Amino acid sequence: MTAAITLHRGDITRETGVDAIVNAANTSLLGGGGVDGAIHRAAGPRLLAETRTLGGCATGDAKISGGYDLPVAHVIHTVGPVFSASRAETCDRLLASAYRRSLEVAHENGLRSLAFPSISTGVYRFPVERAARVAIAEVLEVSARLGDIDEVRWVLFDDATLHAYEQALAEALPGTDDGAGLSAD
Ligand code: APR
Repeated sequence: MTAAITLHRGDITRETGVDAIVNAANTSLLGGGGVDGAIHRAAGPRLLAETRTLGGCATGDAKISGGYDLPVAHVIHTVGPVFSASRAETCDRLLASAYRRSLEVAHENGLRSLAFPSISTGVYRFPVERAARVAIAEVLEVSARLGDIDEVRWVLFDDATLHAYEQALAEALPGTDDGAGLSAD
């Protein structure tokens, strides 16, 4: 069964009702700016104390931690690629891998719902329309394969990014207007 996909405008650190939020981290897992910085600030210092013990994370991989002061129980830290036009297809594969590994880590830990930010489309400069197409396609394929991910949300920080994901979802699911379809609030 493919997960129900919903798209939301908001701050992922305030998301509730999912087993995990996903962090767009860097390979050190020691925090940073953007959504990584926001998640560490909201989770508090115990998050860094745990991520220090995880031994970093390769680009395209994912690792799990507790959520601490966040309103969700877990954070799945993944590392997307820094976009490079001369290696665009490789970047597509690494971005897909970040989503795939995040879903696999959720599955391995018995989690059934998670919320993603728009991985790699900030500091890592991945073109948002291209990233959205890669992300939606990979999540649809992997969640159908795993079969036990009930819900995947994207929590998007600005209207332009939300619109890009709406477009990508509409293209991926033509004629679908319920269930796994669009839901933006
Ligand atoms: N909630 C949801 N989305 C957010 C939030 C938030 N609180 N803050 C930022 N974003 C959005 C950005 O607007 C962008 O659309 O997350 C998306 C990803 O942007 P970045 O956080 O810059 O992540 P990324 O492009 O993957 O770069 C990762 O940035 O912060 C550093 O340590 C991080 O080195 C790593 C790099």
